[in-house]
Amino acid sequence: MKKSLLISLICAAFLCLVAAPMLSAADAPKDDLVIKAPEGMKVKEKDGQPGKLQKAVPFPHSKHAAVECKECHHTMDKDGGKINACTAAGCHDSLEAKGKENAKDIKLVENAFHNQCIECHKNLKKENKPTGPTACGKCHTK
Ligand code: HEC
Ligand code: HEC
Ligand code: HEC
Repeated sequence: MKKSLLISLICAAFLCLVAAPMLSAADAPKDDLVIKAPEGMKVKEKDGQPGKLQKAVPFPHSKHAAVECKECHHTMDKDGGKINACTAAGCHDSLEAKGKENAKDIKLVENAFHNQCIECHKNLKKENKPTGPTACGKCHTK
């Protein structure tokens, strides 16, 4: 076999390997995604009683089609297009309830989501652009 042909074949095989996962990652998932607090999430006490979790948050990808995937999935470039769960180990994995000491800790699930979701919705609202909810009960609905 000619050397150049062999090289092209190897290149083609390699391209298939890397291209396949990137193609599937380009399709946003269906709109039935509901973001739940991770297992073991702690909650602030209320009047000496254990508090309750907020309701879960439906997240429609299709309403965010104008936003680049990597704006939210901000580790995907680094991970070769792979999409990680936000609360994966080493990421936003703190199960502590929000308090004085960790009020700004981005490892906190609440802070990670609120900073991204609410900040964007608020900023767009200020600019009078179409936006998403900023009130607790409009996101925590499920
Ligand atoms: C734009 C959507 C959005 C808005 C508005 C919003 N949240 Fe959240 N919040 C989330 C998401 C997403 C999570 C992560 C999923 C979860 O833990 O339920 C979360 C998590 C939390 C958590 C930690 C998990 C739990 O259930 O205890 C608390 C507490 C919380 N939110 C309270 C609030 C309060 C109070 C408000 C209003 C001041 C509010 N949220 C407004 C989206 C929102
Ligand atoms: C506005 C923010 C945002 C944008 C833009 C966004 N996503 Fe997501 N996506 C999320 C959140 C939040 C989750 C839930 C992650 C979790 O639960 O840890 C998610 C989950 C996913 C999942 C896992 C789905 C599942 O059902 O478990 C995939 C795959 C995904 N997104 C792909 C994409 C692709 C591809 C794009 C671009 C076309 C995209 N996303 C754009 C916020 C976004
Ligand atoms: C970079 C900006 C941006 C981020 C980040 C973002 N959103 Fe939005 N969101 C929008 C815009 C823009 C709309 C309005 C789209 C429209 O009406 O066409 C929207 C709409 C929504 C809606 C309303 C959908 C409907 O049916 O009307 C929900 C719910 C929502 N977002 C939840 C979330 C949650 C939860 C997160 C965080 C995981 C999030 N968004 C992060 C920009 C953002």
